[in-house]
Amino acid sequence: MLKNQKICVIGLGYIGLPTASLLATKGYQVLGVDIRPEIVEIISSGKIHIVEPGLDILVKSAVHSGNLTASLKPEVSDIYILAVPTPFKENHAPDMSYVESAAKSIVKLVKPGDLVILESTSPVGSTEFVKATIDAINPIPGVFYAHCPERVIPGKVLEELVGNDRVVGGVDTQSTEICIEFYKTFVEGEVFATDVRTAELCKLTENSFRDVNIAFANELSMICDTLKINVWELIKLANRHPRVKILQPGPGVGGHCIAVDPWFIVSSVPEQARLIRTARQVNDSKPEWVIHQVVEKAKKFKSPVIACMGVAFKPDIDDLRESPSLEIAHHLQSLNIGKILVCEPNVNTLKGLSLVNCEEAIEQADIILILVDHKLFKQLPKQVFLDKCVIDTKGLLQ
Ligand SMILES: NC(=O)c1ccc[n+]([C@@H]2O[C@H](COP(=O)([O-])OP(=O)(O)OC[C@H]3O[C@@H](n4cnc5c(N)ncnc54)[C@H](O)[C@@H]3O)[C@@H](O)[C@H]2O)c1
Repeated sequence: MLKNQKICVIGLGYIGLPTASLLATKGYQVLGVDIRPEIVEIISSGKIHIVEPGLDILVKSAVHSGNLTASLKPEVSDIYILAVPTPFKENHAPDMSYVESAAKSIVKLVKPGDLVILESTSPVGSTEFVKATIDAINPIPGVFYAHCPERVIPGKVLEELVGNDRVVGGVDTQSTEICIEFYKTFVEGEVFATDVRTAELCKLTENSFRDVNIAFANELSMICDTLKINVWELIKLANRHPRVKILQPGPGVGGHCIAVDPWFIVSSVPEQARLIRTARQVNDSKPEWVIHQVVEKAKKFKSPVIACMGVAFKPDIDDLRESPSLEIAHHLQSLNIGKILVCEPNVNTLKGLSLVNCEEAIEQADIILILVDHKLFKQLPKQVFLDKCVIDTKGLLQ
């Protein structure tokens, strides 16, 4: 029954595009909508604008089958999936403007029996906000609203879209049931029912849990530096305790999820979210700490060449959003303490920075700053670092 329904996916980015093309290849008629004309044009020609393994083939076949079309404007559909950005503003308050304008774009299209799903990672109350936004302009009864947060990891999106367990929370029981019925048509993982606010907080909790645990590792790394203890060895030994599993430190926390979503909790319950706020502050302070380390080392050279190894926000991807490593590279450049080279094997261009390949970076560098543990860097023979001053934020040389 569901398969004959038309789906409109609003927002064709890292989440919306894989979702739209997956649904199209499962037999749904899908209209993908984006406000950026160049994205609509690229997808309409069966191509993609983001890097994700396997996505090019999926989009090509979805578009060629006729089941996926792209447009600047939504059209009357039966299911609407909102997958638009949810960044935060200057003061760390959530920026709901994208969700609001996506909701407004379908306000005149929804009809009784339709299902509106918010997939964007959102503060508690956002799905009710979408419903209220639509109801305020077009109060049609019998429209179902639910939240089903996306949990995929870049680099494995296609696999995880299908394989991950999902949490679905509707604004009422019927919305939850109808939404679960829909996800069960393409998800192989388990789909769990809950209420809408629990579903919203569930996603934020997952990312806050990661952030707090990374903050613990990052704080340890700074403590160890002061106490002259090898943090990597310390963590390895502590993790031999059967109930201890400390994560690895790094140059900070990046990406558009872990570095952002905990703020949505802090923003809605500032009095209670003390640990979550502190973890964010610890992780946000780590780049500054790394910069300080480099500045101190640079004082030993007249005009050092400093090679920043990796600026993506995590290993083996091209995503630079909220990347602490990129922030560090730019900041070092602005300090004029030497010549800054950047080696990032996953991108072809880098605005405002001197991008070089791995060999050039290592050969020319006096100071090597390891910021990302890309596979390529892990494969380098340790001898290449021997006569260099190395600052290893990822424990690559351990
Ligand atoms: N990328 C991930 O790995 C990931 C994982 C889990 C959850 N999420 C969440 O999913 C949501 C989307 O993230 P993303 O990474 O896909 O973002 P993205 O920036 O890659 O894509 C969002 C797209 O929405 C478009 N857009 C903005 N407003 C619009 C509107 N009113 N109508 C139509 N299109 C509009 C933008 O042009 C953009 O192409 C966010 O809430 C994010 O936190 C992302």
